[in-house]
Amino acid sequence: MTPNPLAAQRDGLHLSFSRWVCRICPGRMLSGGIILRMKAQADNATPLYGRYLIRLVRPFPDFDFPFIRQVRRRAVELLRLEQGDRVLDAGCGPGGSFPYLVRAVGPSGQVTGVELSPEIIQNARRRIEKNGWRNVNAVEGSAQDVRLSGVFDGLLMCAAPDVYASKEALDNMWPHLRDGARVVVFGAKISNKGIGRVLNPMLRLLLSRLSFPTTPKPDEEPWRLLSPRVDRIEIEEYLFGCMFLASGSAIGSRAKIREELVPAG
Ligand SMILES: C[S@@+](CC[C@H](N)C(=O)[O-])C[C@H]1O[C@@H](n2cnc3c(N)ncnc32)[C@H](O)[C@@H]1O
Repeated sequence: MTPNPLAAQRDGLHLSFSRWVCRICPGRMLSGGIILRMKAQADNATPLYGRYLIRLVRPFPDFDFPFIRQVRRRAVELLRLEQGDRVLDAGCGPGGSFPYLVRAVGPSGQVTGVELSPEIIQNARRRIEKNGWRNVNAVEGSAQDVRLSGVFDGLLMCAAPDVYASKEALDNMWPHLRDGARVVVFGAKISNKGIGRVLNPMLRLLLSRLSFPTTPKPDEEPWRLLSPRVDRIEIEEYLFGCMFLASGSAIGSRAKIREELVPAG
């Protein structure tokens, strides 16, 4: 099995933290140590923004950043979903895209969110509960090895570079996309335009502070891994070229993907 670098890193952190707890905790404090260990595990699977902001906004399940609403609307438009469709929101976070996806697939459709962080998924579940959505579910797990079922008509990866720039995650999800399913990615990129170039260092700093140490750093084409899997990929740029929306239709069959990735010898 291919080792999962994210899991390996998290396991390493858990182990050293729990060893430290055991060293400072004599027997009767062990249960406290176990609780601390569980908290450390949740924290290690939660990017920095999730550890503070997510708890702060938990009492407001419908919270979303106003500036991103327009992007979500456009992303869902590009998914071209129809009533009754099934859509996968990988790295769904607190479910900010759910309202747009739910509207697009209607009551007969289905929205599935996948989220790594046990902290952040609580917010997504609260959002689902508050809105009484019976056709939305949030699955805790990593896009690299979550067990998906059935076939999806659309895949959204919004601000989730750990997912869209991970071959393992794409390999895991692709067999569940119907041929021609729409795929839409929103994320940060390095700009080669005037003002954008000035913003690049700030973007790099911000992302390195807020994400996991293993999160792929943005470059000029962070959608690169999608190119062989998506037909006619189209890119829209935002914020002086520092943000992008990539969209296209999935080449669904595994055989087709393999053909393009491994040249016949
Ligand atoms: C910046 S947030 C964006 C959340 C959401 N897509 C949105 O638009 O608001 C990225 C999310 O991806 C999650 N994530 C990171 N790595 C992941 C992985 N390997 N599998 C699933 N989710 C992951 C993070 O925990 C975080 O909640």
